[in-house]
Amino acid sequence: MPDVDAIIPGDPCILVIFGASGDLTRRLLLPALYHLACDGLLSSKFAIVGMAMDAWTTDEFRERMTVQVRQFTTRVPFNEAVWADFVGRLHYVPGKFNEPEAFARLGTVVGGLDVELACGGNVLFYMATPPSVFGMVSSALHAAGFTKLGAGWKRVIVEKPFGHDLASAMELNREMLKYWREDQIFRIDHYLGKETVQNLMAFRFSNGMFEPLWNRNYIDHIQFTVGESVGVEGRGGYYETSGVLRDMIQNHMFQMLAYLCMEPPVSFAADAVRNEKAKLLDAVRIMSREEIDENAVRGQYGPGRGPDGATLPGYRQEASVSPTSSTETFAAIKLNIDNWRWEGVPVYLRSGKRLWKRGTEIVVQFKRAPDVLFRNTAASSIDHNRLIFHMQPDQGIELRFHAKVPGTAMRLQNVNMRFAYGDAFQASRAIGYEVLVYNCMIGDATLFSRTDLVEGAWRIAQPLLDRWSTATPSEFPNYEAGSWGPKRAFDLLERDGRRWVEIINRDVLEKVPLFAGSDPAFQNSLLMTLEPDVYELGDYIFREGDSAEEMFFIARGEVEVIGPDGKVVKTLGGGDFFGETGLLTSRPRNASIRALAQTDVFVLKRSDFKKVLTQHPEFADSVERIAKERYKLILAASLVPVAGKAAP
Ligand code: NDP
Ligand code: BG6
Repeated sequence: MPDVDAIIPGDPCILVIFGASGDLTRRLLLPALYHLACDGLLSSKFAIVGMAMDAWTTDEFRERMTVQVRQFTTRVPFNEAVWADFVGRLHYVPGKFNEPEAFARLGTVVGGLDVELACGGNVLFYMATPPSVFGMVSSALHAAGFTKLGAGWKRVIVEKPFGHDLASAMELNREMLKYWREDQIFRIDHYLGKETVQNLMAFRFSNGMFEPLWNRNYIDHIQFTVGESVGVEGRGGYYETSGVLRDMIQNHMFQMLAYLCMEPPVSFAADAVRNEKAKLLDAVRIMSREEIDENAVRGQYGPGRGPDGATLPGYRQEASVSPTSSTETFAAIKLNIDNWRWEGVPVYLRSGKRLWKRGTEIVVQFKRAPDVLFRNTAASSIDHNRLIFHMQPDQGIELRFHAKVPGTAMRLQNVNMRFAYGDAFQASRAIGYEVLVYNCMIGDATLFSRTDLVEGAWRIAQPLLDRWSTATPSEFPNYEAGSWGPKRAFDLLERDGRRWVEIINRDVLEKVPLFAGSDPAFQNSLLMTLEPDVYELGDYIFREGDSAEEMFFIARGEVEVIGPDGKVVKTLGGGDFFGETGLLTSRPRNASIRALAQTDVFVLKRSDFKKVLTQHPEFADSVERIAKERYKLILAASLVPVAGKAAP
């Protein structure tokens, strides 16, 4: 990575995008390149040549990208001046990847631009194509003489998935290495472009405080969760051949695992970092068939309901998915790392589609302090300290520890300290591809996978793929769309006396009309005030007539809403919320809520809500308006401070 935070544009080069008419190009790649242009990080000697089968002209390509980049950029407002220059650098060559004439035409265009812009012969090839044609494109480039062009560097970015299993990844590596040297190949994993993922290294190695504790002596276990609320989003055909193990765990999650658990590298030089990552993956225990049955859980979503009550189709009902599909859309795995640092510290990973919320989090749970001092006090138990990395959509780091509850007795409460990226830094939201493409342009391969890393990751996944391909799961589908995932994923930890740490994030607040669309800083402040609480089966959370002091978010479980006539009006489950008028008014409750199962809820108290509004008076207006429009409530002056002025 560049070691100074200055605007140093990438090397002069021609970027050739294979698959320029595809989804990746329009949604992520071109917008990211435009962001680099906005930040002055593209050389003035730079051009893009797109290639795909569509018979477009350069003008048509420019017109389409003008529409699509505007649609997918995360930068507001759109910078017309930058775009006017950028769009003039776009070129298009139609052609099929198995047509030598197309590559001859490409050679002419690239050669012409190289001379015109004085790029010094530097060419970056980006394979934004289905993986099945990576080899075909490489061999066509070779046949057309691109790999041997004299002056300047030639680099190739290869998209994921890199291989379908260990054997095909090894074969693809062999094929690529026939035409390119290892230092020319940049295998992309877009998670490594995320600031929060890169921050794992910064956090670990720039803070003297935690690294001494980063081992089996102090850490009880580690959890990785990558939850997605979306389904397969029209990609059923691809997903049928993939499943969550290949799509998320083998690549994105193992990359994060490597960053979190590797030994300190001797420097940030690409190979120093990648050596340590490779060593870590090598130390992950390869599971036997029996261990897989014991330590890995897979799931597939069935029909369910979204938080808004809308019906969600099951995976088998998605387009291009077999009605008897055994593809897993969820997996939870317990891994062991057989090295000196981590021996005996389990690492639990879980990922799934159509879960109740989107959220990527890493929880490092420390060993408990001895409770000897607190045994005869009002402190009921000592909990674990936890360090939580919020990767997305919230970006931040949270430390959970105990504090004494004010009062005469020795009572403890879990409290947290939280750093939110958005509060500390004022950076525009990046797509993640910016840093990856830029690093490739400057020849820094730190954030890209090497042959051994890719193969190491497949080596861990392969026994699971083998086992799951032979044993068809009779219980599929085994979790409802919009739920927490299969129960067995919870049993996996409960068996070890542990539980998943559930994190509530901004997505949940987005579903509450009162908070939807509000500023992330406002939402983050709200999230930090949420208090967890648990109700047993049959408990009343509140009864009709009770004074309303708070609202509730259901993390897990089920409740019924009982009307004044004693009849059940509806039931609510994970992801639902209730009692929101309790934030706005102290009017007594007009219904009762009773738990139908053990139900974990997050509580937002009116007093805390008021504090947050006091810190963010600029949101008072919109809260007041929504209260009026949706709930027909005029808010008490004591709750809503005057906009723009902090309440006393
Ligand atoms: P698309 O199917 O949308 O695009 C594929 C592109 O490749 C199209 O431009 C297509 O041209 C072109 N193409 C395919 N075969 C040929 C051929 N034989 N000759 C010429 N052109 C060909 O795929 P995506 O853009 O979604 O994905 C591309 C890669 O990026 C994949 O490896 C994917 O896994 C990866 N990726 C995608 C992400 C995404 O969000 N889309 C995210 C992360 C990775 P035409 O349209 O003319 O057929
Ligand atoms: C892609 C997967 O690699 O990552 C998708 O193919 C998944 O299935 C996506 O949805 C998740 O990426 P992000 O950045 O939204 O977490």
